[in-house]
Formats: sequence, C-alpha cells, structure tokens
Amino acid sequence: MPKRYVVALDQGTTSSRAMLVDAQGRVVDAVQNPFPQIYPRPGWVEHDPRDILTSQLGALTELLVARNLGPDDIDSIGITNQRETTIVWDRETGEPVSNAIVWQCRRTAPIIEELAMRTGVAREIQARTGLVPDAYFSASKVKWILDNVEGAREAAQAGRLAFGTVDSWLIWSLTQGQVHATDVTNASRTMLFNIHDMRWDPWLLELFDVPASMLPEVRPSSSEFGRTANPGIVPGVPICGVAGDQQAALFGQCCFEPGQAKNTYGTGCFLLMHTGFDACRSEHGLIATVAASAPDTPCPEYALEGSVFVAGALLQWLRDELGLVDDVADTSAIARSVPDTGGVCIVPAFTGLGAPHWDSEARGAIYGLTRGTTRAHLVRAALESLAYQVHDLCVAMEADAQVALSSLNVDGGASANDFLMQFQSDILRTPLRRPQNTETTALGAAFLAGLFTGFWKDADALRALRASDAVFEPCMEDARHARLLESWACAVARTMSRPC
Ligand code: G3P
Repeated sequence: MPKRYVVALDQGTTSSRAMLVDAQGRVVDAVQNPFPQIYPRPGWVEHDPRDILTSQLGALTELLVARNLGPDDIDSIGITNQRETTIVWDRETGEPVSNAIVWQCRRTAPIIEELAMRTGVAREIQARTGLVPDAYFSASKVKWILDNVEGAREAAQAGRLAFGTVDSWLIWSLTQGQVHATDVTNASRTMLFNIHDMRWDPWLLELFDVPASMLPEVRPSSSEFGRTANPGIVPGVPICGVAGDQQAALFGQCCFEPGQAKNTYGTGCFLLMHTGFDACRSEHGLIATVAASAPDTPCPEYALEGSVFVAGALLQWLRDELGLVDDVADTSAIARSVPDTGGVCIVPAFTGLGAPHWDSEARGAIYGLTRGTTRAHLVRAALESLAYQVHDLCVAMEADAQVALSSLNVDGGASANDFLMQFQSDILRTPLRRPQNTETTALGAAFLAGLFTGFWKDADALRALRASDAVFEPCMEDARHARLLESWACAVARTMSRPC
C-alpha cells in the first residue's frame, strides 16, 4: 500500500504546527499549538526549548490521533522552522542549558558592534557568510550563552554541549538523541557557516569563540535526517526534508530558477529571489543565503533575501492601537472606498528602516494630513506603504542580481488582501501570482521530504501541483506611478535620521 501523506512540521516564532499533505499537494488537516513568548528584559526575546518541543510533538500526535493514522500512512516528515533562534543543550541529559535566544532578541548587539569595529572584520564576515553582521544571526547568541550561563563554556570545551537552531533541536528530540544535524539553509543563518565552501568556517568559530565540537553535521535540505524514535510519538518515520521557513517557502512556491522570487506578507515581509549557483554579493544591504535544493542538485544554490520589518504589524497597529478597523480583513474594502490616500503617506519605521535604507534610528511618520483626511485615507496609506517597502527591496534585488523580476509569487496573511496585491503589482509593474494554497512554508518542507523518498517524482511533478488562485496584472498609468513613487521616496528621505 503506498503511503498516503507527508507530514510537515512548521515550528514558527509564535506557534508550532503539524500538517498533513497528500500526493496532490493539498493540506488535508492541520493542528496548531501556540506557545509562550518570554521577554525577560526590554529587547530580549526567549523561548523555553521544552515548550517548543511539547507544542510541536503535541501537534504531531494530535494530528495523527485525530485521523487514526500510524507509521504505515506516513511517507516521511519535513521540518521547517523559525531561523537563527539558538539552543544549546547537554548531549548526555538532553536538557537545554538555558532558554533559546530568539532571532528577534537584541541582547548581543554590543558583541557585534565590538567585532564590527575591528578593521576588515565586517567585510570578512560578509564575504564568508553572505550576511551583514548583526545580532539577528546565531553566532553572537551562542557566544552569549557560553559566556553567561554558569559552567557552559567549560562543558562545551569538554565536548558535552550541543548547539543547534530549532531544526536541530527537533531532529535531536525526534530521533531520541541519535542525530545531531542541520540542513544547509539553517546553517547559512548562523553566521558560522561558509556559504561558498559549504562548511563550518574555522575563522568564524575562532572569532565567536565557539568550539567546533558543539556544531551539528550539515546535510542537504532534501536528504535523510534519521527516523523518529522518541517514545511519545509515531515510531520509525524518516525525516527527509529540513529547511528554514523562508527558504522552505521559496521551495514551496516552486521558485527553482534564477530570478524567481517570493514575498511572504507576515508580521514583516521576507522577500527571497533565487540566484541559481551564484552567491550574489549585495551592494544594497541585502543578504546572500543558501536556498533549499532538490536531491541530486550538483552544486549549492543561493538566494538573495531582504526583509521589511513592519508589514502586517502596521495593520494590527491600526486595529489594536488606533482602533481604526475592527478586523484587518476589512482594510481592502476600506482602502477601495477612496480613489487615493488624499496625499497621506505613512512610513512605518517603527523599529527603524531595513534594506535598502538601513537606518536603525529612523522612526515612523505620517505625512500630508489635512482636515479632510479620513479613516479610509489612513488605511489606504498604510496598505500602500507595505507595497512601497517591497518595491524598494525589489529594486535593490534586481540591481544586485542583475535580473529583472518577471513575476512575484506571494503568500502570508496579507496576501489575501486584494487591494494590496493589485497596488503591489501596479507599483512593481510586475504580475503577482497568489497560489491557491498559501501554506507555502509547510508545502516546501513536505516537498523536500517527498522528493527525497520518491513520494513526488521531480520538480515538474511539484510544479504541476501549484495552481494559482489569482494573478494580479499591473495596470497603473505611467504618470501616476511616477508621482506616487516620488512622493514615497520624498517621505522616506524626510524620515531618515541622517540626510541621504
Ligand atoms: O528569520 C526569522 C524567520 O525565520 C521567522 O519566521 O515566520 O517564524 O516569524 P516566522
């Protein structure tokens, strides 16, 4: 009997989900478990690794029990996860030595500032990892744990501790401590991994004072990572796909060729463009990262990545702080109730401006208010600001990759907003494709696993599963397009903390 499903485990920043994906690429069932966020001090963000585990394994078990499924029904497991979040645990006891330091946590910014002040170090880090040195990535977080948790450095030096991003922690737990591994996409977010040589980089390990003995083995995203052996869960199922969530979404959107890109509209936005076998060195503040590849791909594949800090969060702010809307789903109709923003422009730089502007001191601003400004103008200006930020990232990406974006694949919560999607297409002057199944992160993990086992034959078989829900074609006239982009550029320039 052929096995009927691939299970995708999607361990995100605020919840853990388990999804059942069938051979037609449909998510036939899902269980989602939120888990606590820990904020010990302003700017610090932690997760309890045991909460990550119980919420994730609980979701898996609940999913299978609800449908009375066992190992004979499940072809394989694919894991996708919040990236960069750092966990250190004891190899013997399996106990974490501290809470996980989450990707959003800023506590290690001073470590990075100190290193970046040393001549040539920032340039060298970027050359080896593709990353702009920042506390976002795992390297300074591991260093912080070793330097601040009592006894941790000695234990690490004695070979007793293991480091991993969330995928490694889950693999370790699912295999009952038999496998300590990660995949190339997650490794590329640690700032300890050389994305050209595709191995842990001794120079970086020395720079961050991280013993090599702590590191997981790095495997291709579509390969075997062991079998489930944890007594609490379904036994003997192979784990055959692992990728960080944004790279998984790129794969789930079937962006396999250079120039193909996806944008996820979540709390922030993550825009990734496949760049083929070239790790593009960004001149515009973007990041080069390793993309997930199908099995038997001869060389590593790469992507350029840029992020918008505030996207869906702006709509939540309109709802929760300003009380302008009851439901963010209403914003599309509200924005359409007016022909334009009446001259209002919002720059949502709540936590500074990211790529390509990089101004951490900038703060949000609303321009062009008049006595005639209405709620609809503000809502429309908020949605338009998301599109402008994505536009700026796309321009930077096209310049770095030297390719024109032929279309953009979208997913994430706000991709359901038809006004935003049409305006985005108009501003980018590019068609936007919204898939019927916007669970692209989970699909990517499932695809990686199922390609390895033969559940799906090849990339063409995956492409055949991807039906579009809607394609938004650009239709804005040139003069209006130019005028809108000019007023956005002007608003950004006025918002910068330093003259540009
Ligand atoms: O780099 C951070 C990213 O992977 C987090 O994604 O979806 O858990 O917010 P998400």
